[in-house]
Amino acid sequence: MLRREGLSKLTGRERYVDDLPLEDFLWGATVRSPAARGRISDIIFGDGVDWSEFVIVDHTDIPGRNAVYLMEYDQPALAPGYVRHVHEPVLLLAHPSREMARRALREVQVIVDVDPPALDFRTLPGPDLIQYGENNVLKRLSIQKGDVERALGESPIVVEGVYETGAQEHVYLETQGMLAYLDGEVLVIKGSMQCPYYVVKALKPALNRSEEEIQVIQTPTGGGFGGKEEFPSMVALHAGLLALKSRMPVKLIYDRTEDMVATTKRHPSQVRHRTGVDENGRLIAQEIEVVMDGGAYLTLTPVVLSRAIIHAAGLYHCDNVSILGRAMFTNSVPYGAFRGFGNPQAHFAVERHMDVIADRLRMDPVELRRINMIRDGQTTATGQVISDGVDRLQIVDRALALSDYERRRREHWVRNPEHRYLRRGIGMAAFYHGAGFTGSGEVMLDSRLHVEGNPDGKVQVLCASTEMGQGQVTIFTQLASDRLGYDPAEISIAEPDTHRVPDSGPTVGSRTAMVVGRLVERACDDLCRKAGVEIGAPGALVKEAIIAWHSAHPGERLLGKARYEPPPGIEWDEENYVGDAYGAFGWAAHVAEVEVDLRTYDVRVLDFVSVQDVGTVLNETLARGQVQGGVAQGISWALLEECVWKDGAMENGQLTNYIIPTSGDLPPIRVEFVEFPYEHGAQGAKGIGELPLVGAAPAVLNAVAAATGRQPTEIPLTPERLMALLANGDR
Ligand code: MOS
Repeated sequence: MLRREGLSKLTGRERYVDDLPLEDFLWGATVRSPAARGRISDIIFGDGVDWSEFVIVDHTDIPGRNAVYLMEYDQPALAPGYVRHVHEPVLLLAHPSREMARRALREVQVIVDVDPPALDFRTLPGPDLIQYGENNVLKRLSIQKGDVERALGESPIVVEGVYETGAQEHVYLETQGMLAYLDGEVLVIKGSMQCPYYVVKALKPALNRSEEEIQVIQTPTGGGFGGKEEFPSMVALHAGLLALKSRMPVKLIYDRTEDMVATTKRHPSQVRHRTGVDENGRLIAQEIEVVMDGGAYLTLTPVVLSRAIIHAAGLYHCDNVSILGRAMFTNSVPYGAFRGFGNPQAHFAVERHMDVIADRLRMDPVELRRINMIRDGQTTATGQVISDGVDRLQIVDRALALSDYERRRREHWVRNPEHRYLRRGIGMAAFYHGAGFTGSGEVMLDSRLHVEGNPDGKVQVLCASTEMGQGQVTIFTQLASDRLGYDPAEISIAEPDTHRVPDSGPTVGSRTAMVVGRLVERACDDLCRKAGVEIGAPGALVKEAIIAWHSAHPGERLLGKARYEPPPGIEWDEENYVGDAYGAFGWAAHVAEVEVDLRTYDVRVLDFVSVQDVGTVLNETLARGQVQGGVAQGISWALLEECVWKDGAMENGQLTNYIIPTSGDLPPIRVEFVEFPYEHGAQGAKGIGELPLVGAAPAVLNAVAAATGRQPTEIPLTPERLMALLANGDR
């Protein structure tokens, strides 16, 4: 099936938030803190603009709690006198002219009595830097299996490593933006977002409004990658405050630099491994410590840390595992959700470390993985028994075959010593990702979805899942049309509007196809039941039954309904981090081939092969796109994307100096799927969105290690970092 909104995007007809018609409205703008930490002692309004033309909002205008609520009430919507990071919102302005609103920003000066900021998440803070709990620890989590201390003591070989990853900007196509206006007593919010009901959840306590008085509608969204998971609630709240005070429609759109410097990014991380192995390479003990920079407020950091530690041991079996995770408060712009949600950081470390171990043992890194890879009946670090029937070795073997791994490797061995300055290498990573919310998260979400049969027999899916380029609208149309035997043209997907659609949970965590898609199928079945037609009956009969039902029930709605039900046998102990962390895992292997130029220290990825098990592939073109996009984003994180920090502020907030790849910078990304269906996912689907990003960085760096004979441990591996690594000793 063709992508449903593809043509309007391709032709430029799709209207994003900034393109929507709005009359007689104000442009909003956000005044931000210039300092990382301190008390606001004064706010000076310059005389370059006529302030009587402006609507100005500060924290005293907030009718309810001054917080952007998601997990806790810790992050203020507008700083109430004390700031904890650079670019923290302090005031909101609005004016009929965009130009004047921008000019006014330059006329306001926020004066801060500066306190020393905590900016390094890797070192314990001194007493004057402590601002949160015990030693600025935002969240601490741990997983314990077996007896690591004893097992390390008994291990003939112990290999240690420290691995670091940097922040990453989402660079979605259109920046954060919201419209807000009053429709009678209802505050309407429209904008770019992944999770309409998260916005409702944040606005209720801050604006003291009921769910009926807040209507949130997602506008076409050009990519989210997690950046439109929690942050849009802040923008929506700001636009709403301005609309409520001015009683006029308000448009609040970030420009690219504001978006890059002031919104969330991927959490920087430092991961330590101490691994006990025997001479044959069998893992005896894994001691792992995961430390993340949380930034100045909680956002979703605890759950990102949770996903990181759950995946931190990699897809290997080991009887003795200890994983300690901690996220640190710092006076940095808060970090937040980003595709992979902590798992790319965890896998960069463990998959790089596997190659380091193999190097120490003088062993083939593929062989080391083969020996230790989890088999059905064995358990993960949380003690989850894997028994999904997936042939993980087949996935690895297929990736090796497609990339011609062995032959290339031998070619490199011959070629490298002969070439004056080019070095080639090939590397691989094997990895996994749990789909859906962790542990009992899906039960807590309690997602609901409706499928409505209309009087003309056509059908509409009502859900809060959002399209952001990943294909949700197409997939849900396909699922409903397959289930009902309908022509896809007779199925529509309702606009995500919280006054029209039930809460089917956030569009995150690779849960949409697998979890919410399953609700589409079950709601279709319920629709058949209610219309009095057999489930699985031909579409023509279903349609007839829907039309007949409406004749018998004039003016009533015919809704098929579904509500999340956990798959049987899932048990999770949140207290001790023991049990079934996820209903299903996607499994994958990447192989990267690189060429390092010793004159420029440039790393070029020449070839990339990805073999993925995402369960049943629902739409191969879209699935391939997800994998290629995830790999591109992962390669980019590994080699190019570097946030330059100064006093807690991002210095390179432009796409001229924060480098992301064009298609010309990327290799062919060759994708193959190996399908192991999951019986509780829609048509057997598992999660797909995040998995491909997870293993890209270690695959690329393992190839660099093979090319250079050195062990890079830090990304982004910019030419400067590679130069330092190679210069440090002989080549
Ligand atoms: Mo998210 S990082 O959109 O699960």
